[in-house]
Amino acid sequence: MGKHRVLTGITTTGTPHLGNYVGAIRPAVRASKDDRIESYFFLADYHAIIKSTDPEQVRQSSKEIAATWLALGLDTDNSLFYRQSDVPEIPELTWILTCNAAKGLMNRAHAYKASVQANEEAGEDADHAVTMGLFSYPILMAADILIFNAHDIPVGRDQIQHVEMVRDIAQRFNHHFGEVFTLPTAAIDDNVAILQGLDGRKMSKSYNNTIPLFDTEKRLQKSINKIKTNLLEPGDPKDPEDSTVFQLWEAFATAEQAQEMRQKFVDGIGWGEAKKELFTLINDEIAPARERYNELMAAPEFIEEELQKGAVRAREQAGALMDKVRSAIGIGPIR
Ligand code: TRP
Repeated sequence: MGKHRVLTGITTTGTPHLGNYVGAIRPAVRASKDDRIESYFFLADYHAIIKSTDPEQVRQSSKEIAATWLALGLDTDNSLFYRQSDVPEIPELTWILTCNAAKGLMNRAHAYKASVQANEEAGEDADHAVTMGLFSYPILMAADILIFNAHDIPVGRDQIQHVEMVRDIAQRFNHHFGEVFTLPTAAIDDNVAILQGLDGRKMSKSYNNTIPLFDTEKRLQKSINKIKTNLLEPGDPKDPEDSTVFQLWEAFATAEQAQEMRQKFVDGIGWGEAKKELFTLINDEIAPARERYNELMAAPEFIEEELQKGAVRAREQAGALMDKVRSAIGIGPIR
């Protein structure tokens, strides 16, 4: 038995925000340094083109995401950090898995179903603007995961269904061709917070309510000032459980600091003061990485070198697995 394998993909269509940082990047950077696990982190640029037809957006986002992970100290020797499109074995496996994925299973994928529903609500044809990429997106995700036989997939709740589909596809393949693939599990860490955004809904690019992670200090301060609060005055007791400001505080504070702020809420700290303290707390944690981020954004050759280093190692492993897969399905040299 090899080491435990953990794999995470990040779709390259956006700018990393505090929600990504707390929910995914911070725990993943920690995991990258743990020598008891083998972790895989990749830029999912083939996933990006499902959603985006803007090449500049995909390019810029790939650069920002890679720079963010490196700036935060991702250990690229102990983990594998690569770009999906640098591993051609992934799209190759995608086709093979496409032939092992039931169409009925894909019909149930919620990313696809959400588009169909939006079309129906808008009075459009059900398939309006639905591409085959969107429809079969869980199969590409299956290839990402199965090509490295990863065990744990840390994902948000919205991705659990996709990981279960990966299991289904792997099982079907194994049933026909022998035990080639390991069945992965969605790993949900309940200790990791799902942050609220400026308007109190889940922080998400699609709600346009995010706080970018590496904005300038000034803009970070401005974003924090925009967090929605209620009309309670300084001196009025406030409910920490009902506050985005407190929730963000908790995601960055030690247990002791969280307790202190809880008391301040009860004692009626003003919103302005609470936000000022929140800014300082967050800024102190991310300022050194912000500086490193700005250096990396100005040195793309260094980012690219890291990705190429990862690609070489990723392809070694992916190539070995594809040899097994091809041989299992009867594709290969005539003998
Ligand atoms: N689909 C995932 C998302 O939108 C990103 C992703 C692509 C991924 N491939 C993956 C996540 C493989 C985990 C494993 O968040």
